Amino acid sequence: MALVPVTELLLDAEREGYAVGAFNANNMEIVQAIMNAAIKEQSPVIMQASQGAIKYAGLEFITGMVRLAAQEADVPIALHLDHGTDFDQIVRCIRSGFTSVMYDGSRLPLEENIAITNKVLEITRPIGVSVEAELGKIGGTEDLIHVEAEDAIYTDPEEARIFVEKTGVESLAIAIGTAHGQYKGEPRLDFERLEKIKGLVNIPIVLHGSSGVPDDQIRRAIDLGVRKINIDTNIREAFVWEARRQMQANPDEIDPRKILGPAREAATEIIREKMRLFGSAGKA
Ligand code: G3H
Ligand code: 13P
Ligand code: ZN
Repeated sequence: MALVPVTELLLDAEREGYAVGAFNANNMEIVQAIMNAAIKEQSPVIMQASQGAIKYAGLEFITGMVRLAAQEADVPIALHLDHGTDFDQIVRCIRSGFTSVMYDGSRLPLEENIAITNKVLEITRPIGVSVEAELGKIGGTEDLIHVEAEDAIYTDPEEARIFVEKTGVESLAIAIGTAHGQYKGEPRLDFERLEKIKGLVNIPIVLHGSSGVPDDQIRRAIDLGVRKINIDTNIREAFVWEARRQMQANPDEIDPRKILGPAREAATEIIREKMRLFGSAGKA
């Protein structure tokens, strides 16, 4: 299949009340793990590239790998730019073949965030590329930007309403208590805020920093309108822990495939679990 826009996947999810997983694609093994999980679970899926991934693997390598995965798979796959902050890079991603981009203007004043999001939408609308925006500040470290827990600012529902009204953006990432990376304590999401936001904006909501959020809170968030759920850290953990286990168990092994193969399997399993939890399994 050809790569599909994220909006297409999220509208189906909205109709049927489930969420689509957006998994960070950092190398070939992880791209294959996401693809294999999606095939096994017959689930639609979003592969996303962060600034770190683009720096590590190179834009054209990522697009090439994900495009190939989509061709091989019998399930819909979208390719999305995660936390884009640079207009020129967004254009380069679209030119390379991305079917969706995030413009993350969350660090800017509202009016400026609205203006740049609209500039992005001006170029994406005629070509059917989806756009995700962000309001509020999500804690943790992402793309080399670190937001201390006390600096994380939850999304204001009224600002969300104004933002969506003035942009018509297709999906919105919000800050309701999640954080990027590993959690120190147990996260407690602000469901009241989520419910308020969803009541004011009629578009799919995106949850970042979803690794480590307990299953019951994920289910509740989906019930309240979250339709795209970002997972990176849980894949990193599964992959690296298994690679480490292999190296410790076989210290003389020098074939990287014997270490990375099982790591890829471990990543596939955690992604499959998430697809079942999100309700996207069987929806391809
Ligand atoms: O935004 C979330 C990802 O975990 C990005 O991190 O830039 O290190 O790939 P990264
Ligand atoms: P985690 O690494 O916490 O799962 O967050 C991923 C994310 O939000 C990517 O944008
Ligand atoms: Zn994120």
